[in-house]
Amino acid sequence: MMPGMQIIRDPAEMQVISASHRRAGKRVALVPTMGFLHEGHASLMREASRRAEVVIASIFVNPTQFGPNEDFDRYPRDFARDERICREAGVASIFHPSAEAMYFPDASIHVVEESLGRFLCGGSRPGHFQGVCTVVAKLLNIVSPEVAVFGAKDAQQVRIIRRMVRDLNFPVEIVESPTVREADGLAISSRNSRLTESERSQAVCLRRALSRVEDLYRQGERNTEALIREMKRIIAQSPNARLDYAQIVDDETLAPVLLIERPALAAIAVNFSNARLIDNSVLA
Ligand code: PAJ
Repeated sequence: MMPGMQIIRDPAEMQVISASHRRAGKRVALVPTMGFLHEGHASLMREASRRAEVVIASIFVNPTQFGPNEDFDRYPRDFARDERICREAGVASIFHPSAEAMYFPDASIHVVEESLGRFLCGGSRPGHFQGVCTVVAKLLNIVSPEVAVFGAKDAQQVRIIRRMVRDLNFPVEIVESPTVREADGLAISSRNSRLTESERSQAVCLRRALSRVEDLYRQGERNTEALIREMKRIIAQSPNARLDYAQIVDDETLAPVLLIERPALAAIAVNFSNARLIDNSVLA
């Protein structure tokens, strides 16, 4: 019989349990999430179980990565459903701490990434990547996994985490797993649940704009001004989509580029009435 899935709330207990896996010679993989799990998260868990004997998923809606006017309080939660999805994906333990267990009220050390985080979402969400880096550093220290799996949907996030792991010598391999999409191409996101019916049908505009850019790129277009103009034109066809950004950046530095001469990232962020959606595509 499969041993039951554990739910661990205490960071110190989590450290003891993952140390015991390591002593038993088992590879541990971590999948950090904020819960309200969906098929995208499940695909990361399956990828993790291909790479390690023990998969640990963290579920923690991290308050420090939300800005003052963002959706921390409204972020969707459904722990019973999350548990079921983790169990079906073969997760051994869920790490589900409270904010109080994660953060000392007088915490005074944070992880700040100073380069890649200036662009894209870092520009429109000041402090966001400091919150992400700090919580992921803490999760890596609590779980000490050999592998941690992140989704390509959050392209800037996984690039910043890789940089943190490189620059701070975290002994972990960061794996990027492909974006899982709905049938019409919309990237699955916990925030899709907050789209109205009409917004949901308009939301495919992100994928449509990126597909158009991929086509033009394949046909030889390298001028990003022309590509960005196309993305903006397509987003503008959706009346409820307010564009945050449509950009083409260097895939390594994330700085905007004018002419694509090495791998680039086309990235879009759009606000609907109650949900901010992002998507991206690598041009290489
Ligand atoms: P969250 O938005 O819950 O996402 C958790 C992980 O799932 C991230 O690595 C994200 O890129 C991945 N993911 C989300 N939607 C996906 C999709 N459609 N296909 C593939 N992967 C997808 O990202 C966070 O939480 C937080 O910032 C976190 C890293 C947990 C730190 O708090």
